[in-house]
Amino acid sequence: MTTTRKLLVTNALPYVNGHLHIGHLIGYIQGDIWVRFQRMRGNRVGYFCGDDTHGTATMIRAQDEGRGTDALMEEMSTSHQRDFADFGVQFDHYGSTHTESNRALVAEIWAALRKAGRVKEKEVTQFFDTEQGIFLADRFVTGTCPRCKAEEQYGDNCEVCGGIYDSHEVLNPRSTLSGSTPEMRSAPHYFVTLEEFHAFLEDWVHSPGRLQPEIAKQLEGSFLSEPLRDWDVSRPAPYFGFEIPDAPGHFFYVWVDAPVGYIAATADWCAENEEVLDDWWRNPDCEIHHFIGKDIVYFHALFWPAMLKTAGFELPNRINVNGFLTVNGEKMSKRRGTFILARTYLDHLSPDYLRYYYASKISTRMSDIDLNFEEFTAKVNSELVGKLVNLASRTARFMKGQKLCDPYPDDGGLFERGAAAGAEIIEAYEACDTNKVARIVMGLADRANEFVEQGAPWALKKQEGKEEEIRAVCSVALNLFNQLTTYLEPILPELAPKSRALLSRSGAIGFEDTQQPLCGLAVGKFEHLMRRIDPERIEAIIAASTEEN
Ligand code: MSP
Ligand code: ZN
Repeated sequence: MTTTRKLLVTNALPYVNGHLHIGHLIGYIQGDIWVRFQRMRGNRVGYFCGDDTHGTATMIRAQDEGRGTDALMEEMSTSHQRDFADFGVQFDHYGSTHTESNRALVAEIWAALRKAGRVKEKEVTQFFDTEQGIFLADRFVTGTCPRCKAEEQYGDNCEVCGGIYDSHEVLNPRSTLSGSTPEMRSAPHYFVTLEEFHAFLEDWVHSPGRLQPEIAKQLEGSFLSEPLRDWDVSRPAPYFGFEIPDAPGHFFYVWVDAPVGYIAATADWCAENEEVLDDWWRNPDCEIHHFIGKDIVYFHALFWPAMLKTAGFELPNRINVNGFLTVNGEKMSKRRGTFILARTYLDHLSPDYLRYYYASKISTRMSDIDLNFEEFTAKVNSELVGKLVNLASRTARFMKGQKLCDPYPDDGGLFERGAAAGAEIIEAYEACDTNKVARIVMGLADRANEFVEQGAPWALKKQEGKEEEIRAVCSVALNLFNQLTTYLEPILPELAPKSRALLSRSGAIGFEDTQQPLCGLAVGKFEHLMRRIDPERIEAIIAASTEEN
C-alpha cells in the first residue's frame, strides 16, 4: 500500500511577448504528462503556470503598438491559455506575474532579504537612450564588434567571431529602440549578495534527485566553481514591473518576480478553492517540482533557492530540465518554415501526434530533441496507428453488439505479461522516462498484433461455426488495446477514454484496467480513433510558417 503524495508542479512561465511555438511545448507537454500520471496514481497535485509579464520588452512593445500593457497582457494570456488547452495541457490555475498577490509576495521576500542583510547598493554604468529616456540592456544595443569589426552585432557578443566583450567596448553603438547613439550613464542599483549561500547551494544542487546529474555537474563546473557574484536585482525607472517598496524610482528586475509568480499562481488558486497557501509552499510534506528549459537553469538553481530559503518557503524537491528543439536537425528558422507556432500546428494536425512524438524522445537525460518530419510521420503512422489503434480497428467490427468473453479466454499469457510490465512503466513515468514507457508499450503491442494476425478473425468470418473463436480473438485484442491505451493515457489523454467507451467501461479508473481483463461488457460501435498523418499536412504547416526574406 503506497501513501498518497501531495505534489506542487509548475512549468516555466512563458514570456508575454510571444506566441507559443512547438519548442516551448516540449516542457509543457512533459509537465502535463507527469501530472496526469501522478493523478492516475491517486496522488494529489496542484499544477500551476502563468504569464511572465514584466521587463523593458513588454513596455516597448505596448508603446510601439500604441496600447497599454494591460491590453497586451490580456491578449497574450488568452492566446497562451487557448494553445495550452488545445494541446491538452491542463493547469489548475493560469496566473500572471502582474498581480497583486505577486506584488505582495515579492515584497515579503524582499523584506526577508533586507532583514537577513543580503541587500547592498552599487553604481552601475550602462548605455542610456537619451531620446527614449531609458537605460538599455545589452540586447537593445547594436554596434561594430571591437574584435573583428563585423557590423550590427549585439552589445555584449559578436555572432561572427564569437567574441564576448563589455558593452562599452562596442564601436559606433546604436540603440535598437530609437536608432540614436546612446551615452554611458550611471545609476544606483540594488544587489543581492549570494556568496553567503555558496555552501548551502552546493549542498542543495548535489542532494540526490534534485537535478539531472549532468545539470548538477554543469553548475558545479561553472557558477559554483568560483565565488558567487552579487546579483543585480533592480532597474531604474522607467521599467514595467513592481516598484521596490523601500526604494522609489527603482523596480525589481523581471527575473526577481518571475519565479515568485509560481507562488502567486498557487495563492490565487488557493483563494478560489478554500486552500491555504502555506499548506503548499511551507509544508515539508508537499513536494515541489519545477519543469523548465535548459536556458533558465541558472535562475532556478541559484537565485531561486536562495530567495525561498531566506523567506522561509520550502525548496523545490526536483527541477526537471528539458533540452531545446531542433527541426530536421537545425535551429528553428522562419526562412525554412520550421519556426512553427503552436497554433499553426493545431490548424493542421492533432495534438496527440506531437505529444506522443515528444514523449517518445524524452528520457531521464537532458538532451536536445530533434523533430524530424519523416521520422515524426513514420513513428505516428507505424506505432500509434499501425500498431496500437490497429488492435481495435481490425477487431471491434466483429464484436459489435456482442459481449466480451466471460471468462477471459486463453491468450498465451499476453495480458498477464502486459500487467506485469506495469511496475516498470510506472517507474519510468515517475522518472520522466517516457521514451522507456513508449518502448515497453510498443513491444507489447507487437506481440498483441502477432496474436491477432494468427487468430485472423477476418478469415474465420468466412467459415461456418467459428463465432466463438472470433469472439475469443477479438475479446483478447480489445482487452490488450484497452490495457495499452490505459498505460499511455498520460501521454494520449483522449485515446484511453475512447477505448473504455467502446467497451462500455465505467467507474473509477487509474491503472486498474492494466491488471485485470474486462469480461462480459458489451462492445459498442467502433468510431474512427486516429488517422494516419498525410505528409501534405506537414507541407501545409511549413508553408504557413515560412517568412520570405
Ligand atoms: N519567462 C521565462 C521563464 C520564467 S520562469 C519563472 C522564459 N520564458 S520563455 O517563453 O522564453 O520560455 C518558456 C519555456 O520554454 C522555458 O522553459 C524555456 O526554456 C522553454 N523554451 C523556449 N524555447 C525553447 C525551445 N526552442 N526548445 C525547448 N524549450 C524551449 O524563459
Ligand atoms: Zn566579431
